[in-house]
Amino acid sequence: MALPEEFLQELRARSDITEVASQYVSLKRRGRNMVGLCPFHGEKTPSFNIYTETNSFYCFGCGAGGDVITFVMRIENLDYIEAVRLLAQRAGMSMPSENYDDSLAKLKRRIYEANRETARFFFRTLYSPIGRSGLEYLRSRGLSDKTIRHFGLGFAPDSRFDLSNHLRQKGFTDEELVAANLAYKNKNGRGTNDRFYNRVMFPIIDVRGNVIAFGGRIMTDEKPKYLNTSDTLVFNKSQNLFSLNNAKKTTDRTLILCEGYMDVIAVNQAGFENAVATLGTSLTSEQAVLMKRFADEVIICYDADEAGQKATRRAISILRKAGLEVRVLVVPDGKDPDEFIRKNGDNGGAAFYSLINASTNDIEYKLNKLKRNYDLSLPDQRVRFLNEASGVLAELEKPLEQETYASRLSEELGVSRESIMQEVTRLKRSRARGEKKKEFSRLAGSLAGRDDRLTPHRREELRASRAEENLLSVLINYPEEYSYISSHITADSFVTDFNRRLYRYFASKLDNGSQVLNTVSGDFSQAEINRIFSIANISRGISPSAEAIDEYIRVLSEEKDKLSAEQIANASTQTLSDYISKLKSKRE
Ligand code: UTP
Ligand code: MN
Repeated sequence: MALPEEFLQELRARSDITEVASQYVSLKRRGRNMVGLCPFHGEKTPSFNIYTETNSFYCFGCGAGGDVITFVMRIENLDYIEAVRLLAQRAGMSMPSENYDDSLAKLKRRIYEANRETARFFFRTLYSPIGRSGLEYLRSRGLSDKTIRHFGLGFAPDSRFDLSNHLRQKGFTDEELVAANLAYKNKNGRGTNDRFYNRVMFPIIDVRGNVIAFGGRIMTDEKPKYLNTSDTLVFNKSQNLFSLNNAKKTTDRTLILCEGYMDVIAVNQAGFENAVATLGTSLTSEQAVLMKRFADEVIICYDADEAGQKATRRAISILRKAGLEVRVLVVPDGKDPDEFIRKNGDNGGAAFYSLINASTNDIEYKLNKLKRNYDLSLPDQRVRFLNEASGVLAELEKPLEQETYASRLSEELGVSRESIMQEVTRLKRSRARGEKKKEFSRLAGSLAGRDDRLTPHRREELRASRAEENLLSVLINYPEEYSYISSHITADSFVTDFNRRLYRYFASKLDNGSQVLNTVSGDFSQAEINRIFSIANISRGISPSAEAIDEYIRVLSEEKDKLSAEQIANASTQTLSDYISKLKSKRE
């Protein structure tokens, strides 16, 4: 990954992270910096920070951090070279001559191209004699030609070789077909078999318009009913949503979340373009954060069966955490949205619209659901219902919401609003205590270096690690201190492996007069980059005193000199007596 340093420096200078990030996150100024809700994990209070001075970001909630290139890599799901290319385009810079290793980016491009060609092939086949059963199937499910074209639906012929042969003819290699998960290697190691055959096909298209994967439905009762592309270099099923490429055009920032492909398509055909569905897994927080980019409100529209209702409860909490408002649409008679719209014939769109209008917000939905479990004419059942209902209200963040629903319950059940609010407040407090405890033990765990994969010995070497991190942080924020520091320590003075590696890396940059962080986004893994930017925070804005630097250097040399118990056990008498006199002289 040898992009010229000067190029990267200019790219970074021309790519203001505040400008770039504000296309995805709404940011507020706080002092010199900007804060917002983190786009990389669901949260309700902002812990995502942008540091304008270093053109970098760090989230105190999830520990994600990096520079403007890392930000683009993560938010657009790109690899390093692709992110650089995107930023260069944005800044009106041309890429330097392509002599760097971008084989991964090339393979990804080939996968996109293979997928696009495949979508064309399936679509053509659907309208050819071979595709007749497929076209008949889709029509039998009420889809018009216009809808079929709009979604680019297609048909995979009943052959294990047709698609592979077609793609080979178009210049794709077997390796590319396998990497795209369109085919798999034959048992005998020669040639490939098509992954999809004899199914109607649904292309999955991302928000940038790339065909990233496919779902295919079998036309009989055989299993599996739907077969989807497995995760590839360009597709991760838990980070994408079906039809978000259409739904993102929503003008009122509302999305309808369905369970499956056919529901989304039926809802679209009925006149609502803003429907999406997960891809055969339950909703993830990444998908919720993705939706938040295009919407403020999500209407959950899952199947009416028990599984669908359970999934609804789960989705409510995930969506709320991502800062989305939630409504729940209940489809009557245990049908799914597709069946409901079909059953209403020409009136399907209007009927569905009335369901949208009748949909309640998530709190009302939960309270209504609870209510059905009790006979409210009996006093003891009323009390039990109120206790459970207070639990629902206690989950709410906003006092205004709590008060509103408490008033409503009070009128409905003839209990004073104050007593309901008392119970709500009590539950809220005890929950907050539980949360705090959890948060505390999580924080304590991470501070103590438990589950720390980068520096597994941090806990045993806490004193040395802290000194190391402080020194590294000074080098990042105050590179002018490098000559002093490097005249007192070398990489060998470091006790823990990762920090030593970092020091060596920083030193080589500083020796060449380069910026310390200029190339980290290309040279380190995601987890390492997070750590580097968390280390950067230690001394950010706190200009280090000469005494502090001396202290870090002293601690480091002391800790380095310490012999481990094992080393002591194996040491010669001479080594030991040297060691003891060294310790003595330090104490004086
Ligand atoms: P459903 O079983 O509810 O099917 O699966 P559906 O959407 O009503 O489909 P039709 O109407 O019978 O055609 C919901 C979603 O779960 C995923 C698919 O994404 C599907 O749309 N799924 C289901 C699979 O990935 N594989 C399966 O075998 C079944
Ligand atoms: Mn269905």
